Amino acid sequence: MPRNLLVTGGAGFIGGNFVHHWCARYPDDRVVVLDALTYAGNRATLASLLDARRCEFVHGDITDRPLVSSVLERYRIDTVVHFAAESHVDRSIADPTAFVHTNVLGTQVLLEACRSAWYQNGVWQAGARFHHVSTDEVYGSLGPDDSPFTESSPYAPNSPYAASKAGSDHFVRAYVHTYGLTATISNASNNYGPYHFPEKLIPLMIVNALHGRRLPVYGDGQQIRDWLYVADHCRAIEHILNGPNVSDTFNVGGRAEHRNLDIVRQVCALLDERFRSTPTLAARFPDCPAAHGISCATLVAHVEDRRGHDRRYAIDPTHLSTQLGVEPQETLESGLARTVDWFLDHESWWRGVMDGSYRQWIADQYGGTA
Ligand code: NAD
Ligand code: TYD
Repeated sequence: MPRNLLVTGGAGFIGGNFVHHWCARYPDDRVVVLDALTYAGNRATLASLLDARRCEFVHGDITDRPLVSSVLERYRIDTVVHFAAESHVDRSIADPTAFVHTNVLGTQVLLEACRSAWYQNGVWQAGARFHHVSTDEVYGSLGPDDSPFTESSPYAPNSPYAASKAGSDHFVRAYVHTYGLTATISNASNNYGPYHFPEKLIPLMIVNALHGRRLPVYGDGQQIRDWLYVADHCRAIEHILNGPNVSDTFNVGGRAEHRNLDIVRQVCALLDERFRSTPTLAARFPDCPAAHGISCATLVAHVEDRRGHDRRYAIDPTHLSTQLGVEPQETLESGLARTVDWFLDHESWWRGVMDGSYRQWIADQYGGTA
């Protein structure tokens, strides 16, 4: 049976990858994207699908209840995949307000609109599904020898971003418990890959290195994250949506724990190698040290640490693996190579998504031209 999906935040990084993935795998399904196009959302990410009328785009805010309800009704949505969020920890430290608004209130508005659309005369619409995309950051920080997070790890969010995502998870749980909604939640580790806005670690390092800007490593760079290639995350969500229609939570990880400094060094080594093997790159990116035979790693600069910086995240993906048979397909090495190549091949995308004020901001922070 073809499905009618509503993908919130589908013009962002993971949502955009998911929409491409889903449209390729299920061409008979209707996919409707609802996105407010904040600084992190870009129509360009979906351009090929929109031009080919493979998905529909609604420009709007998930906190706008009349709009959300009308989208659910108009497109007879039976499956909601909820990505829309403010997602950057540093921005949440600078000002948490938008994080509470979108991540907590927006999720509750979406849940309430679904309850009103799918629960009638005391019965939930058969087959209706709500999937909430969340993060491992809700579990807080681990010590070096602690076991990885499982689905029953206690919530201990440390940043305003993590607290807002924890709040959204709790609202989903409360709608399941109180109203009988069927909902799944995935708590994923750090994603990376195509269409990643260059404010997060990996794309920022790639874009800064190409401009010859400093590569800012917070503190000692020994913080550990689990790294998940975005296509592996999208496949995991696909399996959850195709799995049993019962409320459940799944931790999604890449089986790839690495220190930040090692990630940055690997990105640099990949760029150095690409410049050696592709001489035309030097003319395209003359400010990159690799264009002059100098390693990008010379740009690494240890800068002031993030406030309240979590030391280690790690995921135990056993539940996803045993219940649904899902394993990551990319290693960090293969995923990083794909990511670096994608950014080298899609210069117009990343130049297009960075508006003038953001370009100026990174030039002011890390040197080089805007
Ligand atoms: P992103 O910042 O790249 O994209 C967020 C999208 O949501 C953007 O398109 C933006 O325009 C849209 N949006 C923001 N506020 C909105 C609003 N009020 N109404 C409608 N749309 C709005 O984020 P991402 O990295 O793609 O993350 C997607 C989801 O996955 C988030 O819920 C995030 O918490 C979660 N997650 C992200 C990671 C990661 O490493 N990036 C890891 C685990 C979980
Ligand atoms: P980030 O990509 O912002 O994701 P998150 O904070 O959700 O984990 O950061 C990943 C790690 O990289 C985190 O430990 C902070 C660090 N980091 C830097 O060292 N320098 C940077 O410029 C950025 C953006 C992040």
